Amino acid sequence: MNRFLLVQTAEHLALHDEQHPEHKPLFFDFSVGKTKHRREHPGKELLLKALGKTKNPYEIIDATAGLGRDAFVLACAKHKVILMERSPIVAALLADALQRAEQIPDLAEIINRMCLVIGDAKELLTKHSADIVYLDPMFPERKKTALVKKEMRILKDLLEQDLLGDDPDTEQLLALFTRARLSARKRVIVKRPLHAAYLADVKPDLCYKGKTSRFDVYLSKIG
Ligand SMILES: C[S@@+](CC[C@H](N)C(=O)[O-])C[C@H]1O[C@@H](n2cnc3c(N)ncnc32)[C@H](O)[C@@H]1O
Repeated sequence: MNRFLLVQTAEHLALHDEQHPEHKPLFFDFSVGKTKHRREHPGKELLLKALGKTKNPYEIIDATAGLGRDAFVLACAKHKVILMERSPIVAALLADALQRAEQIPDLAEIINRMCLVIGDAKELLTKHSADIVYLDPMFPERKKTALVKKEMRILKDLLEQDLLGDDPDTEQLLALFTRARLSARKRVIVKRPLHAAYLADVKPDLCYKGKTSRFDVYLSKIG
């Protein structure tokens, strides 16, 4: 029996964990909860500060899209975002959430600035470039703590399984970071737990610190 099941209902696509039927099925909705709050209160978003000042909207690649929450914040601020996600299951949940949000008049314009590409960013970034490349991978030390909310348990288990593939974590992160730096015209932004070491031990040019996480900024030499 398959442990994870994607179930399509009249309302949404949801991920069920047959091993833990007590866990709530996972689906995502851009119109409610924390995502709604983040749309209505952009002034608190450190990620937007980490972009730097610009008169015109940026082209941004979110190379580790997940459920698209950070990409949505970027699109709310008028930036055009390409979302890359390598897990076909996470990508299916994200595509479903984007499709539903597109039907909501208040959100349609924002969602139209977001374009999902399914695949490994290490390969996709060889064909795409942008002003900014944003990375928020599931760092090994974050696996246990990052998605502690009940509704995110399924995603955490799923991601842990994905990460146990052929790609050792540190090697895949280093390759992704190296590729991102080649593809970003202006800067690469990396989200890190507040006290974690720098990605690949490379000191960032700028750093924006929040209560639990920080955004390390690497300026592009060609920008
Ligand atoms: C921590 S989550 C990102 C959460 C996201 N920032 C949000 O706001 O919802 C990390 C995601 O990156 C994806 N990922 C990790 N490495 C990747 C790669 N090389 N290419 C594409 N996606 C990747 C994982 O599958 C996972 O869904």
